[in-house]
Amino acid sequence: MRTIDFSNYLDVLSGLRKPWQGQYHAMYSSVLGGVTRDPLLMQVPIDDHLVHRGDGVFDTFKCVGRAAYNLDAHLRRLMRSAAAIGLSWPGGIGEIRKLTLGTLAAADREACSGRVMIARGPGSFGVSPYESPEPALYIVVYAAGVPFMDKHPEGASVRRSQVPVKPARFATVKNCNYLPNVMMKRESVDWGVDFVVGFDSDGFMAEGATENFGLVTKKGELLFPRVEGVLDGTTMLRVMQLAEALVEAGDLKAIAFRDITEADVRGAAEMLIVGTTINVVSVRSFEGVPVGDGAPGPVGGALNARLMSDIATNDALRTAY
Ligand SMILES: Cc1ncc(COP(=O)(O)O)c(C=O)c1O
Repeated sequence: MRTIDFSNYLDVLSGLRKPWQGQYHAMYSSVLGGVTRDPLLMQVPIDDHLVHRGDGVFDTFKCVGRAAYNLDAHLRRLMRSAAAIGLSWPGGIGEIRKLTLGTLAAADREACSGRVMIARGPGSFGVSPYESPEPALYIVVYAAGVPFMDKHPEGASVRRSQVPVKPARFATVKNCNYLPNVMMKRESVDWGVDFVVGFDSDGFMAEGATENFGLVTKKGELLFPRVEGVLDGTTMLRVMQLAEALVEAGDLKAIAFRDITEADVRGAAEMLIVGTTINVVSVRSFEGVPVGDGAPGPVGGALNARLMSDIATNDALRTAY
């Protein structure tokens, strides 16, 4: 086996360029104390408990027109997630915000995605969080995904996931142990559908691998599940605010967070999926059966248009870098 040390490390590293690394624009690491634009230098120490225990929290936001959308909502959720697992960042949310904007400036992209991770930090290969003397912060800026409806204007196909829904205590924390979510994404790929959605042990609709699900009933109510059992998606919360205008215009009767059953899905006028990358997606089929009339409906279309306009022009929620 080849031995790697300081004398040959950079030579070894320079032979490891891969085409997909072109999607990685910049990374800040508190361990290194700086930012890099070279994907080969975007590394995390293996003794960081983030790596071997999934011990950390994260949040993902997107940038359009050189501005981060709803950044403060993402960073507030990040801090809440951290607090929920007994983790904090000594410099507070203000320092994380500054470092995030600095990493975005280093990436220098018109549009991109950003992910901020607070990790338990390097310290040991044990499971005890107390073996890491200090947390670590990693911020990575990478290529933006294409919103789903831009690629699939006909809408999404959805099936019911077989992966057990996470208990509320873990579902409501955006932690770096995403194995159930990974397994859900795997199901959707293996089954040849666009998304899967989980139902909890009481039979209530939960969420997707990395997105929230809602319904428009035939009575004209926009419903999302109660946030006590799912991640409080920034997109879902913003879409609910934007939907108030549809209620005022008479295009919707009401909006509510409520328990939703599979029977509700089968009787719905529209089923919607919302998330940072995808915006608002209209579902055309659930378990192979058309939802509503089997094509994107008016409420999904109106909310997607309002959200896209909000992302592009609402200066109150846009942070330039
Ligand atoms: C499990 C889960 N639910 C919902 C969401 C949607 O949250 P947001 O709208 O803030 O992207 C995400 C985002 O990644 C997620 O991971």
